[in-house]
Amino acid sequence: KKIAILISGRGSNMMSLIAAAMSPDYPAEIALVLSNKPDAGGLAKAEELGIKTEVVDHKDYKGDREAFERALNAVLKDNGIELVVLAGFMRLLTPYLVNEWRDRMINIHPALLPSFKGLNTHERALDEGVKLHGATVHFVSADMDDGPIISQGAVPVLDCDTAESLGARVLGIEHLIYPKALELVASGKAKVKGQKVAISGDED
Ligand code: GRF
Repeated sequence: KKIAILISGRGSNMMSLIAAAMSPDYPAEIALVLSNKPDAGGLAKAEELGIKTEVVDHKDYKGDREAFERALNAVLKDNGIELVVLAGFMRLLTPYLVNEWRDRMINIHPALLPSFKGLNTHERALDEGVKLHGATVHFVSADMDDGPIISQGAVPVLDCDTAESLGARVLGIEHLIYPKALELVASGKAKVKGQKVAISGDED
């Protein structure tokens, strides 16, 4: 499967996906890294590894979110992309792009959904006093940080944690679960069934 990774920043999840895809039996090829920010740190890292990069700058579309998404979608189609992976892509999507890629677009969120949708998840987890926190990979639906859950990873919250230390622990688990989740989706083992994801083994 030909994959595009969409980023807005440093791209550490992108790097974990690229590393996993280097293994010969991995079912996904990272064909493109696309950013909405020309200065995203992840772009240079992808280029260094010989991966094609593109920028579609949302600022060129003056607040017209659908025009931005049409431009982005054109780049995805031109590159023969079959599956879209959001990895720290900080733009809310309109129903247009979500419908174009229904069941073929996945995201990682740094919290155990459905808790803590949105931003500042680690701070909010500390404020609530939860003892477990983590990350969720899910198919993208029209609502933010919603959609059928593919996999989750949990980490303990320690009394001495700051948002930074907790965020670093969660990021570690993100780097483990995202490549595994993409493998499940790209191989066809993870399939959307209504509101949920059904995972099948090798045997069926
Ligand atoms: C990650 O915490 C991810 O869960 C969130 O944005 C962050 C991106 O980090 N959606 P990176 O660019 O992958 O390092």
